[in-house]
Amino acid sequence: MFSSLARIPQLTSLFSLLIITTFFSPATANWKYKSRPDLSPPTLNITTPATFAISPGYIFVAPYSFPGWDPPLPHGPLQPGPYIFTSSGELVWSGFGYISGYVANFQAANWKGEEVLFAFEGSLNGEKGHGHGHATILNGSYESIKQVRGAGSKVLDVHEFQVLDERTAVVEIYRPTPFELKKFGAGPRSQWIVDAVFQDIEIETGRLLFEWSSLDHVPPEESVYSIASLAFGTGYNSSDALDYFHINSVDRDADHNYLVSGRHTSTIYKINGTSGAIIWRLGGRHSNFTLAPGVAFSFQHHARFISHSKEGDIEIISLFDNSGPELNGKRGEYANESSGKLLSLNTTSWTAALIQDFPAPHGVFAVSQGNTQILPNGNAFVSWGSAGAITEYSPDGTVIFHAYLESGDLWANGNVQNYRGFRFNWTGVPHEDPAVVALRHGESTVVYVSWNGDTETDVWAFYGVDAKGREIIVGEKKREGFETSFYVWSGKKWSGFFAEAVGKDGKVKRRSTIVRPEKYIYKYVPGRDDLVYQQGLDEL
Ligand SMILES: *[C@@H]1O[C@H](CO)[C@@H](O)[C@H](O)[C@H]1NC(C)=O
Ligand SMILES: *[C@@H]1O[C@H](CO)[C@@H](O)[C@H](O)[C@H]1NC(C)=O
Ligand SMILES: *[C@@H]1O[C@H](CO)[C@@H](O)[C@H](O)[C@H]1NC(C)=O
Ligand SMILES: *[C@@H]1O[C@H](CO)[C@@H](O)[C@H](O)[C@H]1NC(C)=O
Ligand SMILES: *[C@@H]1O[C@H](CO)[C@@H](O)[C@H](O)[C@H]1NC(C)=O
Ligand SMILES: *[C@@H]1O[C@H](CO)[C@@H](O)[C@H](O)[C@H]1NC(C)=O
Ligand SMILES: *[C@@H]1O[C@H](CO)[C@@H](O)[C@H](O)[C@H]1NC(C)=O
Ligand SMILES: *[C@@H]1O[C@H](CO)[C@@H](O)[C@H](O)[C@H]1NC(C)=O
Repeated sequence: MFSSLARIPQLTSLFSLLIITTFFSPATANWKYKSRPDLSPPTLNITTPATFAISPGYIFVAPYSFPGWDPPLPHGPLQPGPYIFTSSGELVWSGFGYISGYVANFQAANWKGEEVLFAFEGSLNGEKGHGHGHATILNGSYESIKQVRGAGSKVLDVHEFQVLDERTAVVEIYRPTPFELKKFGAGPRSQWIVDAVFQDIEIETGRLLFEWSSLDHVPPEESVYSIASLAFGTGYNSSDALDYFHINSVDRDADHNYLVSGRHTSTIYKINGTSGAIIWRLGGRHSNFTLAPGVAFSFQHHARFISHSKEGDIEIISLFDNSGPELNGKRGEYANESSGKLLSLNTTSWTAALIQDFPAPHGVFAVSQGNTQILPNGNAFVSWGSAGAITEYSPDGTVIFHAYLESGDLWANGNVQNYRGFRFNWTGVPHEDPAVVALRHGESTVVYVSWNGDTETDVWAFYGVDAKGREIIVGEKKREGFETSFYVWSGKKWSGFFAEAVGKDGKVKRRSTIVRPEKYIYKYVPGRDDLVYQQGLDEL
C-alpha cells in the first residue's frame, strides 16, 4: 500500500502541514504552563458557566480528532488522550502519554475498595466505529495496575467497559463470524457478519462469568436497514463483516439481568442473566412496549438501569438518543436533535413513558457516540459524542453548564469528538514529582510549579537555595489552578528554587527537585503579528 509513488506528494503536503502547525500553532507556541512546556491540553470553550446547581466532581473526557479527516487538516486536540478538568475548565490531569493510541470511555470507578481510573486504550477504525484494544486501569497515583482483555482469545471493542460491584467488568467484542446472508437478501458474496458479544468477567483473574452472543438471539433482519443495502458492511470478507447489531452498551442490575443497546437495530434489550434469553425489547422493529410521545429513539447509546419498583413492574432507564440515520448525513427519523432521555417502563401495561428529556443546547446533533450519566443528586451529565460538547442539566432539564471541547485555534469546533464524558469525584496524588521552573527577568524571578493530576495540594511553599546551599522559604501561595506562580523580587540572591505541596491538613505531600533559575526572553518579533512575542530561555 505504501509502495505507491502516487502517495508521496500527499505525504509531503501532510508533512509540511505538520511543520507549519508546530511552528505557528498557538497551542504549542503559547507555552500555556511554564512548568510544563510539553503539555498542550485542549481548552474547554464554556458557553454556559457552571451555576451553583452543578454536582460536585470533576469532568472526565477523552477528546480526539476524527481519524482520516479529508483533507487532513491539523484540527482537534494536539494531544488527544484522557483529561480531567474542573467545572471552570481548569486542567487537573493530562493523561497524554499515560494511556496511548486511541483513548475512550475514560472514567473513575471503585475496584476492590480502591478508587481507580480506567480507559479504553487501542486503535480506532473511524469509518466503521470499531475499536480494538484493552482497558487500562490506573490507581490513585496514576500508575498502571492492570490491563483487562477479553476472555477466551477475544480482542476487546471500545464501546463498553464498566466496573460492577467493585469486582467484575462488562466488556464487548465485535466478532467477525462466517454467516450465510443470502437468505436475508444479500448477494452470494456476503458471507461474514459481526456477532455482537458481551462478557461479564472478573477483573482480577480474567475469569469469564457470563457471555452473550447476539446471533444466538437476534436475527440479522432486526437491523434497521435492510441487509441487502449492505449499509453496515458488505460481508465480503472478515474485515468488512456486516455489522447488523453494533452493540454499544451493557449494564447489569441487582438481579443479574443485563441491559444491552444495539445501535444498528435501534433497540434496547433486557437480557436474562442466566439463560441469555431476551426478556423484552424497547424500540426498533419489534418493541414490546408502546412508546408514549417523546420516547422514540434511534441509533442510541449508553442505556443504563437506574432503578426499578419493588414489584418489578416499573423499570427506570436512561439512554442517549442520537436520533437519526448517519449514512446519508440526514437528520433524525424522530427528531432533528440528539438528547438525553430518562424513561419509565411499565411491564404490566407494556407502555414506555418519558420522565425527562435533556434536549441539546444550540441544536447539537451527535451523529455517533455520546452518553447520558444520571448523577447521584439527580442532575444529568450528557456528552454529545461526535459533536464534541458536554452539558450538565438539573433534574428538570435546565442547562446549568455547557462547554465545547475545543482546542485553541485549531479549527477544533465541530471536529473534536469524545466517545463518552462523565462527572466523577476523584482523589489523585501523582507518583511523578511536581514540575518547577524559575524564570528570571531583570531583577525578579518567577517560580512556576505544577503537579499533573494532583487534587490534594492547597498551598505551595516556595524555597530558595542561597550561595551557601541553605534552603530558605521565600513565601507561600494558595494553589491557583493547574499551575501556581510566585514572584521573588531579590531573584539574584538565589542559585536554585524548589516548591513543596502542602495539603489542607497542613502536611507536606511532596517536594520538587531543585531547579536553577533561567533567563526569560520576552521580545517582540518584527513582522509577525500572529505571534507578537517570542518567549524562550537563555543561559544565565
Ligand atoms: C465557543 O463556542 C461558541 C459557540 O459555538 C462560538 O461562537 C465561539 O466562537 C467559541 N469560542 C471560542 C473562543 O472558540
Ligand atoms: C499505585 O500502584 C503502584 C505500583 O503498584 C504503587 O507503588 C502505589 O503505591 C499505588 N498507589 C496507590 C495510591 O495505591
Ligand atoms: C474486504 O471487502 C471490502 C469490500 O469489498 C474491500 O474494500 C476490502 O478491501 C476487503 N478487505 C480484504 C482484506 O480483502
Ligand atoms: C431467566 O432464566 C431462568 C432460567 O431459564 C429462569 O429460571 C428465570 O425465571 C428467568 N428470569 C427472568 C426474569 O425471565
Ligand atoms: C415481545 O414481543 C415479541 C414479538 O415481537 C413476543 O414474541 C414476546 O412474547 C414479547 N415479550 C413479552 C414479554 O411480551
Ligand atoms: C426535521 O427537520 C426537517 C427539515 O426541517 C423537517 O421536515 C422535519 O419535520 C423535522 N423532524 C422533526 C421530527 O421535527
Ligand atoms: C402499570 O400499568 C398497570 C396496568 O395498566 C397499571 O395498573 C399500573 O398503575 C401502572 N403502573 C404505574 C406506576 O403507572
Ligand atoms: C461527589 O461527592 C459528593 C459528596 O459525597 C456527593 O454529594 C456527589 O454526589 C459526588 N459526585 C459525583 C459526581 O458522584
